[in-house]
Amino acid sequence: MKTNPGGEIDPQDAVGRGETVKLLWQHLEQQSINMVSERRIGKSTTVKCMLDSQPNQRVLIVRDVEGISTPLEFVERVAQDIEAHLSKTKKYLTKSRQLLAHLSGTEVAGLLKFPPGVAREWKSILEKVTEDLIDQQGETRYIFAWDELPMMIDKISRKCGTTDAADLLDLLRHLRQTHPRLRMLYCGSIGLHHVQTKLKQAGHINDACNDMLTFELTPLTNSDAKHLACELIAGENINCLEPQAIAACIAKETDQIPFYIHHVIRSIKLNGQTLTNQLVSNTVQNALEQAQDPWHLQHYRERLPSYYNNDRLPIVLNILDNIATQESPVHYQSILKQIKSTMNPDASDFTSKVIHGDEEALRDLLNLLLKDHYLVKTSQPLGYQFKFSIIKRWWCIHRDLLQ
Ligand SMILES: Nc1ncnc2c1ncn2[C@@H]1O[C@H](COP(=O)(O)OP(=O)(O)O)[C@@H](O)[C@H]1O
Ligand SMILES: [Mg+2]
Repeated sequence: MKTNPGGEIDPQDAVGRGETVKLLWQHLEQQSINMVSERRIGKSTTVKCMLDSQPNQRVLIVRDVEGISTPLEFVERVAQDIEAHLSKTKKYLTKSRQLLAHLSGTEVAGLLKFPPGVAREWKSILEKVTEDLIDQQGETRYIFAWDELPMMIDKISRKCGTTDAADLLDLLRHLRQTHPRLRMLYCGSIGLHHVQTKLKQAGHINDACNDMLTFELTPLTNSDAKHLACELIAGENINCLEPQAIAACIAKETDQIPFYIHHVIRSIKLNGQTLTNQLVSNTVQNALEQAQDPWHLQHYRERLPSYYNNDRLPIVLNILDNIATQESPVHYQSILKQIKSTMNPDASDFTSKVIHGDEEALRDLLNLLLKDHYLVKTSQPLGYQFKFSIIKRWWCIHRDLLQ
């Protein structure tokens, strides 16, 4: 197996997602799923593995929707994807084509391409397309996997307005409720909760995903991470005396995240030295320190203003700086104490609110940091710590903090 950090990898080269894929398919029998995780944990790869192991009469329709920025474009892709599958059994979206002909006054022949002028009708078209699918599917069940859906909703909200964005999420839920056999799998690295918060702030109050199962994709298990490292060491012909022990070191240093495992071994291959634990440590340290940021870790800092806005940013930085420098989990009271003793209430309105006693605001913020995969909450001892030690290490380097 060759290293390919961040590239499309073949399902055969995906390690350790067999049980997860089985579980996802089992859940989909009952319910639609919102799959969440930090970026680069392996969501898209896992979906590809699902494609490779579709149960009998289950058809997964996968579409990366990141580039879509209008509801009509989305509905058009959905319709085209459905027809591409249905046409294999000589079935077509007959009623949808009739509706489109009626709306536009022209016949829609060949590839289902929406005529101009039907944009305002996207809701009725999506409803008709779904009805058509349900009528035509027979014993087969089609499952829509939409990768980067939160990103699409965010783009729609910016380009077409929050009403269209909220309406699309609502309509998708309405369709799941109207057609109990319809299933959807949303995937995304930016949390849908951020997009929904923006929609709520604009007055749209529905929680349009509360019927879905939230499924968190975790890094690889320790033994799968070691296995991946061993396969890559062998595949890249790297000179190594104790591959098992070194693989264990790589798994530990990378938090068992496959993307970083690929990266470490790629750098070592390019460097050409004999692989030792020391070389692994140096390689990771170097990746964390390099200004070129080969692992794209700046992203963890750069996205903060858009996630938390400038009002909450000063406190977020204070919390993360504080927790990054502690060896053990930090208790809520200690986080609050640190804010009060080191921050100026004038830093922002939010800071002032928290310093003057609005503890609920602080708890809500900590909850968001949990949802955004920066932190985890521990019970023994009770407190908060970084979810990934690799991010904690990078944060300290980036922020000039002594660990
Ligand atoms: N199961 C896996 N086995 C081997 N490598 C993986 C696996 N999952 C992810 N990777 C590596 O991590 C990279 C990022 O994975 P990807 O599925 O794109 O993550 P996400 O969709 O969560 O951002 C891939 O390009 C590949 O190098
Ligand atoms: Mg992805």
